[in-house]
Amino acid sequence: MSATRDDPHIDSLSLESRVVAAARPERVSDAGVNVPIDLNSTFLAPGEAGYGRFGNSTWSALESAIESLESGSTLVFSSGIAAISALFSILPRGAVVTASRNGYSGTMVLLRQAEASGALEVRYVDVSNTAEVFAALPGSTLLWLESPTNPALEVADIPTLIAAAKQLNVGVAVDNTFATPLVQQPLEMGADLVMHSLSKYIAGHSDVILGSISTKDQALYQRLADVRKMNGAIPGPFEVWLALRGLRTLGVRMERAQKNAMELAVRLSSHPAVSQVRYPGLPGDPHHAIAKSFMKGFGAVISFDHSGGAEAADQACAASKLVAYATSLGGVESLWERRHRWSSESPTIPVNLIRLSVGIEDVEDIWRDIDQALRGSLER
Ligand SMILES: Cc1ncc(COP(=O)(O)O)c(C=O)c1O
Repeated sequence: MSATRDDPHIDSLSLESRVVAAARPERVSDAGVNVPIDLNSTFLAPGEAGYGRFGNSTWSALESAIESLESGSTLVFSSGIAAISALFSILPRGAVVTASRNGYSGTMVLLRQAEASGALEVRYVDVSNTAEVFAALPGSTLLWLESPTNPALEVADIPTLIAAAKQLNVGVAVDNTFATPLVQQPLEMGADLVMHSLSKYIAGHSDVILGSISTKDQALYQRLADVRKMNGAIPGPFEVWLALRGLRTLGVRMERAQKNAMELAVRLSSHPAVSQVRYPGLPGDPHHAIAKSFMKGFGAVISFDHSGGAEAADQACAASKLVAYATSLGGVESLWERRHRWSSESPTIPVNLIRLSVGIEDVEDIWRDIDQALRGSLER
């Protein structure tokens, strides 16, 4: 179901141009340059569309835009966590999943629930420790790689791990939310599935919750499409349209946010209120060399430990005026929070860790704001 033109020319474009040009309407007289919001719960017979839970032309447009970035058939879901749930739900009962010990807290909750119910067996690993992942792979059905991880910013050696998993017939799925397809394309490296919380960088404006899964494997695609249809975790057309609108500026947003993040990571490294900075772009970061070997950037999230402890970290977050004290990431506006304000955060994450999602504001304004907030929190 598609209202967009089938454009073979798109593959000749850079990824930064594809975010702008992909999934546009047919070029006929008086056509709009943007796809419409398809607000229909049902469609006239006879035809393939049928019913609004089965498909929607605005979904198809966003799916085809993501497909042109990730090089895999794509399904959009009502949230990132719905996409992950769909993926875990197609694994055979009792399947072994090797997954990050430090991943996004929602994914960790899902994995622990699946373990408790006997649906899955999970081997938790440090995904940045390649030898540890190798050791866990034999007998696994799926290697679930979140990289960089949220919020520890560990980087997995994705190409090496995919090669090892393939030899053992282990499927690989990558949560590509933090990197975005502009920084790494896991399917092109051989992964079986790539997942996004579109709520973050792809939509980019902190105004929608959406997710996606892409795959080159048509059988997997069909199974996931069936899960979406029958579990009903379908997105709203308006949210999908907003995400497609947000995607158009992904290139410039990422360029600016990553540049800001690099500058802030350097400055935070010598700040008196900071005992450790975690950002793979820093040459001294333990994940820098691996990240540099295959990523086209380092993302725009920085995590750091407040030298004054958890309470001082909370005080700092509450004292910012430009940077919003809020969860989430990937929007145009900078956000920060102490991750352990959520009881679901992994015990392996330090209690004084602040995650800063760097936005596209003037870097000097962001710095002035976080510097005053951090210094104030040391004086109390
Ligand atoms: C890395 C990562 N994956 C998945 C999710 C879940 O996505 P959503 O909030 O869109 O359900 C998040 C949300 O923060 C995330 O950070």
